[in-house]
Amino acid sequence: MRDSANTPVPRRGLVALAGAAVLAEALPPRPALAQGGPLRVGLMLPFSGTFAALGENIAAAFEMHLAERGGRMGGRPVQIIRLDDESNPANAVQNVNRLVSRDRAEALVGTVHSGVVMALVQAARERGVPLIIPNAGNVAATRELCSPTVFRTSFSNWQPAYGMGLALGKQGAKRAAWVTWDYAAGNEAGEGFRQGLAAGGGEVVRELKLPFPETNFQPLLAQIPGLSLDAVGSFFAGGGAVQFVREYAAAGLKERVPLCGSGFLTEGTLQAQGAAAEGIRTALHYGDGLDNPKNTAFRRAFRERANRDADVYAVQGYDAAQLLGIGLDAVRGDISAEKELTRAMRGARVDSPRGAFTLSPSHNPVQNIYLREARSGENRVVGVAAEALADPGTGCRMS
Ligand code: PHB
Repeated sequence: MRDSANTPVPRRGLVALAGAAVLAEALPPRPALAQGGPLRVGLMLPFSGTFAALGENIAAAFEMHLAERGGRMGGRPVQIIRLDDESNPANAVQNVNRLVSRDRAEALVGTVHSGVVMALVQAARERGVPLIIPNAGNVAATRELCSPTVFRTSFSNWQPAYGMGLALGKQGAKRAAWVTWDYAAGNEAGEGFRQGLAAGGGEVVRELKLPFPETNFQPLLAQIPGLSLDAVGSFFAGGGAVQFVREYAAAGLKERVPLCGSGFLTEGTLQAQGAAAEGIRTALHYGDGLDNPKNTAFRRAFRERANRDADVYAVQGYDAAQLLGIGLDAVRGDISAEKELTRAMRGARVDSPRGAFTLSPSHNPVQNIYLREARSGENRVVGVAAEALADPGTGCRMS
């Protein structure tokens, strides 16, 4: 693995990583590995707060795949260390430091929130700890801050929103607003939506935002009727998405201006949203009714194990475990063999419940973005919004 003291951080990386800038000083060199003993994998995820259910499903599915492999990867038993990051960027550097230095994690899996993930990316870049991102879509992680040791099994924030904008434009929408939390995920998804909609012949005429994780939606909703819109596009997720969809309907907007968005708006939330979600169209790299044997087996096993239905977060966690397993099998558990490990991961074809995927040169999934419609508690796939969509990977130079 690389020595942090000898690895310069490119200037553009320092700018984008302002929130995690103190990490290099905060982290002492990586401790020696205990080869042969259990392999310690740090699972840094939100287990509390608005994204708690997302973190729980990622962790449960990761552990499910590990159990399917008899608890071993590359012949070594795997020990999982869970850490609740609360989706709080202010504590992110300290939390990563705990996992790497105190708990001596040899591989990292995390996280959900696009701001928090930057501290994990920094650790992977500076110290060569392999990182698999099982959700957070921060585009920088697989664009200008891409790295041989950083992989993603989820999406870039651009991908689903681009698909949604494109589908909406093709349906004839000319004027749309974008409503979201004002942080990396909401803003980058907004950029994808704007580009997709423009490619389909429409335009985003207004952005309405509030700070993460606030839920005081009323001042934003009050502006919508006066904007002569054909549609409202949106990024919210978890508990915030439940509340937003309910309040959108309660304000009488649902029948007047169709609501759509990145699929997280209705993912894992439909039961709590009830009738307020009925008919909402979203775009995502997963959906209900995807008919392939892997998905059928995965959904059955997850329900049996967790006593709830799988969703995209579970899929991403499961695939993070699959990808790590592929890498560790290739090096027979010797995680210090960085080149061979990352070569195997980079070239992997992951047999995902979403359908098999490969990784783009910047280590982000190349995948179909499905158009879905919420019907009777399911996000039914009704079409393909963008086929085999790769994030542009702009600015990625693998060192
Ligand atoms: C993110 O912060 O990148 C994020 C969070 C929750 C989601 C999707 C993306 O459901």
